[in-house]
Amino acid sequence: MISIIAAIGKNNELGLNNDLIWHLPNDLKYFKEKTMNQTIVMGYNTFVSLGRILPNRKHVVLTFEKIRLPLDVIQFNNLEDLNNYIKDKDVFIIGGASMYKQFIDKADRLYLTEIDDTHEADVYFPNFDKSLFNKKILGTNSDNGINYTFTLYERK
Ligand SMILES: NC(=O)c1ccc[n+]([C@@H]2O[C@H](COP(=O)([O-])OP(=O)(O)OC[C@H]3O[C@@H](n4cnc5c(N)ncnc54)[C@H](OP(=O)(O)O)[C@@H]3O)[C@@H](O)[C@H]2O)c1
Repeated sequence: MISIIAAIGKNNELGLNNDLIWHLPNDLKYFKEKTMNQTIVMGYNTFVSLGRILPNRKHVVLTFEKIRLPLDVIQFNNLEDLNNYIKDKDVFIIGGASMYKQFIDKADRLYLTEIDDTHEADVYFPNFDKSLFNKKILGTNSDNGINYTFTLYERK
Protein backbone atom coordinates (compact mmCIF):
# COMPACT_ATOMS: atom_id res chain seq x y z
CA MET A 1 0.00 0.00 0.00
CA ILE A 2 1.35 3.39 -0.99
CA SER A 3 0.29 6.36 1.12
CA ILE A 4 1.21 9.92 0.35
CA ILE A 5 1.41 12.43 3.17
CA ALA A 6 1.69 16.18 2.59
CA ALA A 7 0.62 19.54 3.96
CA ILE A 8 -0.61 21.84 1.23
CA GLY A 9 -1.89 25.40 0.94
CA LYS A 10 -5.04 26.49 -0.85
CA ASN A 11 -3.12 26.67 -4.14
CA ASN A 12 -1.32 23.37 -3.50
CA GLU A 13 1.74 25.17 -2.12
CA LEU A 14 4.27 22.70 -0.70
CA GLY A 15 7.53 24.50 -0.07
CA LEU A 16 9.82 27.44 -0.65
CA ASN A 17 13.64 27.48 -0.84
CA ASN A 18 13.76 23.78 0.04
CA ASP A 19 11.93 24.33 3.28
CA LEU A 20 8.36 24.08 4.51
CA ILE A 21 6.27 27.24 4.24
CA TRP A 22 4.21 27.10 7.40
CA HIS A 23 5.43 26.21 10.86
CA LEU A 24 2.62 23.99 12.16
CA PRO A 25 3.67 22.05 15.27
CA ASN A 26 0.37 20.19 15.54
CA ASP A 27 0.65 19.05 11.96
CA LEU A 28 4.21 17.85 12.60
CA LYS A 29 2.83 15.88 15.53
CA TYR A 30 0.22 14.36 13.19
CA PHE A 31 2.94 13.54 10.64
CA LYS A 32 4.93 11.85 13.40
CA GLU A 33 1.94 9.76 14.54
CA LYS A 34 1.09 8.65 11.01
CA THR A 35 4.65 7.73 10.03
CA MET A 36 5.88 6.24 13.31
CA ASN A 37 7.44 2.79 12.78
CA GLN A 38 6.73 3.04 9.04
CA THR A 39 8.91 3.19 5.95
CA ILE A 40 9.21 6.77 4.71
CA VAL A 41 10.23 7.36 1.10
CA MET A 42 11.56 10.73 -0.03
CA GLY A 43 13.48 12.59 -2.69
CA TYR A 44 16.98 13.76 -1.89
CA ASN A 45 15.96 17.42 -1.44
CA THR A 46 13.46 16.47 1.22
CA PHE A 47 16.06 14.32 2.95
CA VAL A 48 18.39 17.35 3.06
CA SER A 49 15.54 19.55 4.19
CA LEU A 50 14.79 17.21 7.14
CA GLY A 51 18.34 17.69 8.32
CA ARG A 52 18.30 14.60 10.49
CA ILE A 53 17.15 11.02 10.70
CA LEU A 54 13.65 10.81 12.14
CA PRO A 55 13.57 8.30 14.98
CA ASN A 56 11.88 4.91 14.55
CA ARG A 57 11.26 5.18 10.82
CA LYS A 58 13.00 3.39 7.97
CA HIS A 59 14.30 6.04 5.56
CA VAL A 60 14.37 5.41 1.83
CA VAL A 61 15.89 8.13 -0.36
CA LEU A 62 15.78 8.49 -4.14
CA THR A 63 18.69 10.32 -5.78
CA PHE A 64 20.40 10.19 -9.17
CA GLU A 65 23.76 10.54 -7.44
CA LYS A 66 25.65 7.75 -5.76
CA ILE A 67 26.23 9.72 -2.62
CA ARG A 68 27.18 8.77 0.84
CA LEU A 69 24.13 8.71 3.02
CA PRO A 70 24.06 7.52 6.61
CA LEU A 71 24.32 3.73 6.77
CA ASP A 72 20.78 3.28 8.03
CA VAL A 73 19.32 5.11 5.01
CA ILE A 74 18.34 2.96 2.04
CA GLN A 75 19.29 4.62 -1.22
CA PHE A 76 17.95 4.08 -4.74
CA ASN A 77 19.25 5.70 -7.89
CA ASN A 78 16.28 5.09 -10.14
CA LEU A 79 12.55 4.80 -9.87
CA GLU A 80 12.42 1.23 -11.13
CA ASP A 81 14.62 -0.10 -8.33
CA LEU A 82 12.63 1.89 -5.79
CA ASN A 83 9.35 0.52 -7.16
CA ASN A 84 10.69 -3.03 -6.90
CA TYR A 85 11.68 -2.40 -3.31
CA ILE A 86 8.33 -0.98 -2.23
CA LYS A 87 6.24 -3.53 -4.09
CA ASP A 88 4.19 -5.46 -1.49
CA LYS A 89 5.32 -3.07 1.29
CA ASP A 90 3.40 -0.40 3.12
CA VAL A 91 5.17 2.91 2.63
CA PHE A 92 4.60 6.61 3.10
CA ILE A 93 5.80 8.94 0.36
CA ILE A 94 6.73 12.03 2.36
CA GLY A 95 7.82 14.36 -0.46
CA GLY A 96 8.79 16.48 -2.03
CA ALA A 97 7.07 17.76 -5.12
CA SER A 98 8.97 15.52 -7.55
CA MET A 99 8.10 12.43 -5.52
CA TYR A 100 4.42 13.30 -5.20
CA LYS A 101 4.30 13.81 -8.96
CA GLN A 102 5.88 10.41 -9.62
CA PHE A 103 3.63 8.57 -7.15
CA ILE A 104 0.27 10.34 -7.34
CA ASP A 105 -1.09 7.90 -9.93
CA LYS A 106 -0.04 4.88 -7.89
CA ALA A 107 -0.94 6.02 -4.40
CA ASP A 108 -3.76 4.21 -2.61
CA ARG A 109 -4.16 6.89 0.04
CA LEU A 110 -3.41 10.58 0.29
CA TYR A 111 -3.15 12.05 3.76
CA LEU A 112 -3.40 15.72 2.92
CA THR A 113 -3.34 18.43 5.51
CA GLU A 114 -5.29 21.15 3.73
CA ILE A 115 -4.13 24.50 5.05
CA ASP A 116 -6.57 27.37 4.88
CA ASP A 117 -3.96 29.88 3.68
CA THR A 118 -1.98 30.92 0.62
CA HIS A 119 1.70 31.80 0.35
CA GLU A 120 4.51 32.28 -2.14
CA ALA A 121 5.95 28.87 -3.07
CA ASP A 122 8.37 27.32 -5.51
CA VAL A 123 7.05 23.75 -5.34
CA TYR A 124 3.45 22.57 -5.53
CA PHE A 125 1.50 19.38 -4.93
CA PRO A 126 0.40 17.96 -8.29
CA ASN A 127 -3.16 18.35 -9.48
CA PHE A 128 -5.00 15.06 -9.32
CA ASP A 129 -8.41 13.77 -10.28
CA LYS A 130 -10.40 13.96 -7.04
CA SER A 131 -13.25 11.96 -8.56
CA LEU A 132 -11.01 8.86 -8.31
CA PHE A 133 -10.96 9.11 -4.52
CA ASN A 134 -13.35 9.13 -1.58
CA LYS A 135 -12.54 12.01 0.73
CA LYS A 136 -12.81 11.75 4.52
CA ILE A 137 -12.26 14.54 7.01
CA LEU A 138 -10.17 13.15 9.86
CA GLY A 139 -10.01 16.31 11.96
CA THR A 140 -9.10 19.96 12.15
CA ASN A 141 -6.47 21.91 14.01
CA SER A 142 -4.70 25.26 14.04
CA ASP A 143 -1.34 26.78 14.88
CA ASN A 144 -0.48 30.47 15.12
CA GLY A 145 -3.92 31.40 13.76
CA ILE A 146 -3.57 29.15 10.70
CA ASN A 147 -6.44 26.66 10.37
CA TYR A 148 -6.08 23.34 8.64
CA THR A 149 -7.97 20.12 8.01
CA PHE A 150 -6.60 16.60 8.09
CA THR A 151 -8.06 14.83 5.08
CA LEU A 152 -7.76 11.32 3.73
CA TYR A 153 -8.36 10.57 0.05
CA GLU A 154 -8.86 6.83 -0.49
CA ARG A 155 -8.70 5.54 -4.03
CA LYS A 156 -12.09 4.13 -5.08
N1 LIG B 1 4.45 20.47 2.50
C1 LIG B 1 4.86 19.22 2.62
O1 LIG B 1 4.17 18.35 3.12
C2 LIG B 1 6.22 18.88 2.12
C3 LIG B 1 6.72 17.58 2.28
C4 LIG B 1 7.98 17.28 1.79
C5 LIG B 1 8.72 18.26 1.18
N2 LIG B 1 8.21 19.50 1.04
C6 LIG B 1 8.96 20.55 0.35
O2 LIG B 1 9.19 20.15 -0.98
C7 LIG B 1 10.41 20.75 -1.42
C8 LIG B 1 11.31 19.67 -2.00
O3 LIG B 1 10.68 19.11 -3.14
P1 LIG B 1 11.50 18.86 -4.50
O4 LIG B 1 10.55 18.42 -5.54
O5 LIG B 1 12.36 20.04 -4.74
O6 LIG B 1 12.51 17.71 -4.09
P2 LIG B 1 12.39 16.16 -3.66
O7 LIG B 1 11.26 15.52 -4.39
O8 LIG B 1 12.41 16.06 -2.19
O9 LIG B 1 13.79 15.62 -4.18
C9 LIG B 1 14.14 15.76 -5.54
C10 LIG B 1 15.36 14.92 -5.77
O10 LIG B 1 15.04 13.54 -5.63
C11 LIG B 1 15.81 12.78 -6.53
N3 LIG B 1 14.91 12.14 -7.50
C12 LIG B 1 13.62 12.44 -7.78
N4 LIG B 1 13.13 11.59 -8.70
C13 LIG B 1 14.15 10.74 -9.02
C14 LIG B 1 14.25 9.63 -9.89
N5 LIG B 1 13.22 9.22 -10.65
N6 LIG B 1 15.44 8.99 -9.96
C15 LIG B 1 16.49 9.37 -9.20
N7 LIG B 1 16.45 10.42 -8.33
C16 LIG B 1 15.29 11.08 -8.25
C17 LIG B 1 16.76 13.76 -7.22
O11 LIG B 1 17.87 13.83 -6.33
P3 LIG B 1 19.36 14.25 -6.78
O12 LIG B 1 19.27 15.68 -7.15
O13 LIG B 1 20.19 13.99 -5.56
O14 LIG B 1 19.75 13.37 -7.93
C18 LIG B 1 15.94 15.04 -7.19
O15 LIG B 1 16.71 16.19 -7.36
C19 LIG B 1 10.98 21.48 -0.22
O16 LIG B 1 10.59 22.84 -0.27
C20 LIG B 1 10.32 20.79 0.95
O17 LIG B 1 10.25 21.62 2.10
C21 LIG B 1 6.98 19.83 1.50
